[in-house]
Amino acid sequence: MTYSCNILVPRFLLLIVFSLALTANADSFESLLQLPRRQSRSTRPRLRPRSERLLHVGDYGAKGNGFNDDTQAFAEAWKRACSSKVKTRILVPQNYTSLVRPIDLSGPCKARLTLQISGRIIAPEDPDVWEGLNPRKWLYFHGVSRLTVEGGGTVNGMGQEWWRRSCKHNHSNPCHGAPTALTFHNCKNMRIENLNVMDSQQMHIALTSCRRVTISGVKVIAPATSPNTDGIHISASRGILVDNTTVSTGDDCVSIVRNSSQIYISNIICGPGHGISIGSIGKSKSWEEVKDVTVDTAFISDTTNGVRIKTWQGGSGLVSNVLFKNINMNNVSHPIIIDQYYCDSRKPCSNQTSAVTIEKISYVQVRGTSASKQAIKISCSDTSPCRNIHLEDIDLEPSNDDGFTESFCFEAYGSSSGEVYPPPCLSDETSVLEQSVPSGTSSVLDL
Ligand SMILES: *[C@@H]1O[C@H](CO)[C@@H](O)[C@H](O)[C@H]1NC(C)=O
Ligand SMILES: *[C@@H]1O[C@H](CO)[C@@H](O)[C@H](O)[C@H]1NC(C)=O
Ligand SMILES: *[C@@H]1O[C@H](CO)[C@@H](O)[C@H](O)[C@H]1NC(C)=O
Ligand SMILES: *[C@@H]1O[C@H](CO)[C@@H](O)[C@H](O)[C@H]1NC(C)=O
Ligand SMILES: *[C@@H]1O[C@H](CO)[C@@H](O)[C@H](O)[C@H]1NC(C)=O
Ligand SMILES: *[C@@H]1O[C@H](CO)[C@@H](O)[C@H](O)[C@H]1NC(C)=O
Repeated sequence: MTYSCNILVPRFLLLIVFSLALTANADSFESLLQLPRRQSRSTRPRLRPRSERLLHVGDYGAKGNGFNDDTQAFAEAWKRACSSKVKTRILVPQNYTSLVRPIDLSGPCKARLTLQISGRIIAPEDPDVWEGLNPRKWLYFHGVSRLTVEGGGTVNGMGQEWWRRSCKHNHSNPCHGAPTALTFHNCKNMRIENLNVMDSQQMHIALTSCRRVTISGVKVIAPATSPNTDGIHISASRGILVDNTTVSTGDDCVSIVRNSSQIYISNIICGPGHGISIGSIGKSKSWEEVKDVTVDTAFISDTTNGVRIKTWQGGSGLVSNVLFKNINMNNVSHPIIIDQYYCDSRKPCSNQTSAVTIEKISYVQVRGTSASKQAIKISCSDTSPCRNIHLEDIDLEPSNDDGFTESFCFEAYGSSSGEVYPPPCLSDETSVLEQSVPSGTSSVLDL
């Protein structure tokens, strides 16, 4: 009892303070990205415009009792909705719990589509159901534009048995992928809002090859011990806004990989889990580029990392123009970390010369507590040092009152301003310039 009081009360208060601090930076961003305008900002259920057609999954045979297989009903409702020439809404009512097996929901659709999940969609508990199917997919949307998924209900991946069998939990099991609860592949002009996604077999929401997507008012929850359960995974996508979102899982709250750009994350509550990550990128010698990422206003608590950039040795490409701003950390093990030596394989990774270039990374107003002494760690490649790292108004104190925090830098160049604690260890930018100009070519500098 005392335990839960001690823990819950301060965190609860922090969340309230944080919620009050949420300000709508989203508006300016929407205009910037030219995201689709919404008709209503009200949290009350919107009135259905006359022109919208309503398809109740029950009318397609769904029973919503939690054990009948409702997959076929969903497939048929989707087919009907997707071929409709008028705006259509598929409804999973509040009192429904629909068991749905792996399903492909494909576009293009003829008109705007809304999937309103007010009740629950649950996955089969038994991984053997995926026998002969792609193990990475459960609810798989592809080739869809102008889709909204909303409704205040829950998508539950029922991942317990998958986690138990995971090679991360039982090292004698083979490593293979597990399903992502909601995958959106090749999507455009989408919204995911007011939705709970929980206990996914692996990742919760994945956007791959998407353009202009808004995720807002989404809550993702899985146990801290569940393996690889990223909250929101953004891959090969551009123009993504994640706002007003809570993620607490066993892996990254948000991960951004593979040629993604114009990513804006604001008002996020993250933890437990692994924090907000750019990467991992550059695995298996790949070329990848992640640029123009902003994380503005985040509360990160009890995570292994706060804001992280992780790249594999041997990869190539670029991470550039990233801003982490107004980040509150609470008992985070590595609040600020750049790791060019990331290695998540069973064998240790050998040293390689090629590396992803990391430049123009700013940390502004990052405050709170660090669970480890090394609150700032910027560990870059000696063949491709990090450039233009900027630290401004940083205060990362130790979680336990006694002690101190410190910075670690390796091949890290940049500057700092304002108060920065722990004291920064970045090397002066000019020294890398001198270093990188081979002797005899100094005349280029005169240009
Ligand atoms: C949901 O509620 C409706 C209306 O009250 C009722 O007819 C239906 O049987 C309920 N369905 C389930 C699955 O509980
Ligand atoms: C780990 O997996 C192996 C092979 O699947 C199985 O025999 C063993 O009982 C598992 N161990 C635990 C602790 O679950
Ligand atoms: C986030 O919530 C705020 C406050 O409720 C709201 O004004 C804003 O529009 C929301 N963001 C998005 C992208 O819907
Ligand atoms: C990223 O884009 C580049 C160039 O467009 C391409 O060569 C590369 O394969 C892409 N990388 C990944 C991981 O998709
Ligand atoms: C902080 O995190 C560490 C390691 O993650 C944990 O052992 C410790 O209990 C946490 N401290 C508090 C005050 O929650
Ligand atoms: C890789 O390089 C680092 C830094 O130079 C060194 O500490 C480490 O021992 C090297 N590892 C291997 C496997 O050679």
